[in-house]
Amino acid sequence: MLKKMFFSPFGETRTPYSVVRIMIVIVVISYLLKHCKKEKRPWWKNSIVYQIYPRSFHDTNGDGTGDLKGITAKADYLYDLGVKTLWISPFFTSPMADSGYDISNFVDVDPIFGSLADLDELLKTMHSKDIKVVLDFVPNHSSDEHEWFQRSLRREEPFADYYVWADPKGFSDSGNPIPPNNWLSKFRGSAWEWREERGQFYYHQYHRKQPDLNYRNLRLQEEIKNVLKFWMDRGADGFRVDALKHLFEVEDLSLDEPVNEEAGVEDNLQYNYLKHPFTMNQPETFEVVRDWRKMMNTYSDKWFTLCRDLTPPLAPWARLLIVQVYNKDIQDVVKYYGSDTDPLADFPFNFRIIKKLHNRSDVTGTRLMKIIDEWFDNLPEGKWPNWVLGSHDHSRVASRLGADLVDALNMLTLLLPGTPVTYFGEEIGMQDTEISWEDTKDPQGRNFGPDHYRKHSRDPCRTPMQWDATANAGFSKGPSTWLPVNDNYKTLNVKAQSEARESHLKVYKTLARLRQESSFAKGKLAFPVVTDEVLAFIRYLEDEPTYLVVLNLSENDVVVDLHQHTNLELPPDASVITRSVSDKSEENSPGPKVSLSALMLVKGEGLVLQLTFAKEIE
Ligand code: BGC
Repeated sequence: MLKKMFFSPFGETRTPYSVVRIMIVIVVISYLLKHCKKEKRPWWKNSIVYQIYPRSFHDTNGDGTGDLKGITAKADYLYDLGVKTLWISPFFTSPMADSGYDISNFVDVDPIFGSLADLDELLKTMHSKDIKVVLDFVPNHSSDEHEWFQRSLRREEPFADYYVWADPKGFSDSGNPIPPNNWLSKFRGSAWEWREERGQFYYHQYHRKQPDLNYRNLRLQEEIKNVLKFWMDRGADGFRVDALKHLFEVEDLSLDEPVNEEAGVEDNLQYNYLKHPFTMNQPETFEVVRDWRKMMNTYSDKWFTLCRDLTPPLAPWARLLIVQVYNKDIQDVVKYYGSDTDPLADFPFNFRIIKKLHNRSDVTGTRLMKIIDEWFDNLPEGKWPNWVLGSHDHSRVASRLGADLVDALNMLTLLLPGTPVTYFGEEIGMQDTEISWEDTKDPQGRNFGPDHYRKHSRDPCRTPMQWDATANAGFSKGPSTWLPVNDNYKTLNVKAQSEARESHLKVYKTLARLRQESSFAKGKLAFPVVTDEVLAFIRYLEDEPTYLVVLNLSENDVVVDLHQHTNLELPPDASVITRSVSDKSEENSPGPKVSLSALMLVKGEGLVLQLTFAKEIE
């Protein structure tokens, strides 16, 4: 009877089952067509990438360390914040010699962070909110506790050459083996560690518990690609590749690196004592990235052949590839973009603000302009910029460049064309935490001893997220936390800033919303005013509102006549959309018009204004 109720247009009878199938096909086709039409650019271009350091984000089991369930529990917060992509620092199995960057199993979750099931839940929750999840990928090294290393140590095949092993150069008078060359570890001291069991040294660019993998072994290369596939199968939307430039070393391991005379470093065990022509950016690195890119693209494309026009990187299911490379010469950074015909990473991080501005007095409009111009001028054709203010490796931007600049710098990075990368807590202006020698965990700090660790330790920027004013800043209900919480948590926290009338958090949310508007997402860019004190930029698009962002980067309150400094025809006034929280004046409160001939800005303030018109921009 039921069967008879379903008829096909062609006259034959259909079962309810086949009708359901037809409906599913229709839904899938309409979804694909909708996206084919709508998506004109890769999803990550409009997104903010929000970096979560999982150890410090939110602890749900009271052991004082953040966990994956803690990230999932904060999904609503992340959604409201307006960030559309999370990059989660390593949560893989690890003895934690370098806070999880020493991985002993690339395809499992460390119990302190939870389980694979917790990750699945996290991915499901974030995807249901249209938030993408990018994982940290650490290809340069593993932990010395990884099974591969243990078997390599015993010369077991096929693992014997999975790491960079070398014979000693000779033996000292006392019979001690001498390393094959003078290469130094980034964490201080020789980069070679002797293993009696094998009668050889192994190479470690970082901690001695982080032996470098040997990319000259093709089988190892395949193993590493399988790691990427494993996480993409589970739903990862992309990767942030750690320490990429160190993937290869020269083949001749007898070569010493030259002393870096210009650096003027006296400590001959410190990394910068040497130049590093043989241990970074070797040409083979690009081959490997090219291979990952190709694999990720075909991988993304696998199930969606119906939408052929929408091959990666345009597809909503395209996987994002970000690489971490620090190089002084910008050309050595931007070459990791590849080109349109030879795509490599979607972007290498732009660390120029971090690397070129070291303290409050370094921040001027002219210097920032130079940094911005440098990136745009060197950006390969068709590629997309990005802006980074901080990470788990650097002093927090509020402490490094100035707490008064928190909103202005967020305005800059969120409203310029490009993808901004926000390190967790930057949205509320979190600051570095003073950590005693006894509490210091970071091996980079510990290797310098109690007198010098402060200069090198990365712990101050890694302390727990400040959620509220309760014990442990609402980060953990346990008796203590893995690193101490900053003393300022009672006033500087998410809850206080959500309840305040004006706060960094509220400014950030406004900016995250604004950057979705066409004028910011696709609009053009002009810089009407650039002086040491003030940097102003305009974002505009035909038939869309025109915005003017004015930043007072000086350490004084100023009154600026924008008309005087610009050759653009600006209107007499503009209305305030948002401003730095430090500005309490009635004049600049959001809404009313302010005069562009006498614009008052307190020190470090940023103002986002909407113009009625701005002529002759081009
Ligand atoms: C990461 C560091 C880590 C190192 C070794 C870096 O580039 O960002 O946090 O210590 O790689 O994995």
